[in-house]
Amino acid sequence: SVLEMEVEQIKKGSYDHFMQKEIHEQPHSLTTTMRGRLKDGGVLLGGLKEHLKTIRRCRRVVFIGCGTSYNAALAARTFVEEMTGIPVTMEVASDLLDRQGPIYREDTAVFVSQSGETADTLLALDYALENGALCVGITNTVGSTLSRKTHCGVHINAGCEIGVASTKAYTSQIVAMAMMALAIGSDQISTQARRNAIISGLTSLPSCVSEVLKLDAEMKELASSLIDSESLLVFGRGYNYATALEGALKVKEVALMHSEGLLAGEMKHGPLALVDEILPIIVIATRDACFSKQQSVIQQLLSRKGRLIVMCSKGDASTVCPNGSCRVIEVPGVADCLQPVINIIPLQLLAYHLTVLRGFDVDQPRNLAKSVTTQ
Ligand code: AGP
Repeated sequence: SVLEMEVEQIKKGSYDHFMQKEIHEQPHSLTTTMRGRLKDGGVLLGGLKEHLKTIRRCRRVVFIGCGTSYNAALAARTFVEEMTGIPVTMEVASDLLDRQGPIYREDTAVFVSQSGETADTLLALDYALENGALCVGITNTVGSTLSRKTHCGVHINAGCEIGVASTKAYTSQIVAMAMMALAIGSDQISTQARRNAIISGLTSLPSCVSEVLKLDAEMKELASSLIDSESLLVFGRGYNYATALEGALKVKEVALMHSEGLLAGEMKHGPLALVDEILPIIVIATRDACFSKQQSVIQQLLSRKGRLIVMCSKGDASTVCPNGSCRVIEVPGVADCLQPVINIIPLQLLAYHLTVLRGFDVDQPRNLAKSVTTQ
């Protein structure tokens, strides 16, 4: 009805689409995710406090989710391992159910879901509860089935997300899981300095997100150069393998363009055969422990005449890409484990503009639903 349309327009404010609004809202949504939780050099997560001791004693942390929520857990995985010393394994909810994979009483199973109503994730939760695991929920929806059925958890407080493509929930999920890692690891003296550095990194993260959002016009321009491409590859590794998967998921789900996120370390084991002068390839090469390995990946792709778009830290353009042999996206550098929060944003903007330019429905891509409540 006309009234419904008007209400929708009011909710979008000055934006054309919910996805666009939610991308640009991220400095604010991340602030609300952290509000009241970073306290004098420590982290306070009320919904987890009573269970921290049990989690510290567990044999394994298993992250379980679907789609973007799975990718967010993957982005947080390394930092959880680093802070806790506990092995972390990853499960796509449907695959865990298909395999009836082993889950034990000694496991902490962490369920990640924006809606808290995804059927596969909820069935995996029932399965983990039956097997006696401690079940933790990371969700954006207070009162959701996930938040009711888990033993404890963290609400990400990103605010209502309407666009089918998850954007602000992804970055808030990563931050919520980073805070969870800090809380679990808070009994360890040896990592105190690192914890303090990450806490101060979290505090300044919203302003870095505002800075990276200034790439909007540049990403629109990049999108216009990719408008007729048939496919887009995204290479990442380490903390930013998740960025590659999530960037590619955004491009395929809204822009309806084939896209794959690939582990750069696997390039020589197959994907390299696809490289030619036509196929666009995004390589994520921001500064972290994997930087020199990514530099050599760039060299190998360039020597095959690959059409490269390199994402690097500010000031690194000529280092990653001597003599202008590729296109560069420069992003602000933050602590390694928080860099995925920054790096996904240009890719969200790219997917958004690509969709608008290709003339597709941004907020409700064909065949998809916001929450997948059937198996
Ligand atoms: C995200 O852009 C997708 N629409 C989809 O992958 C989504 O993340 C997935 O269905 C999981 O949803 P949930 O977080 O609500 O469980």
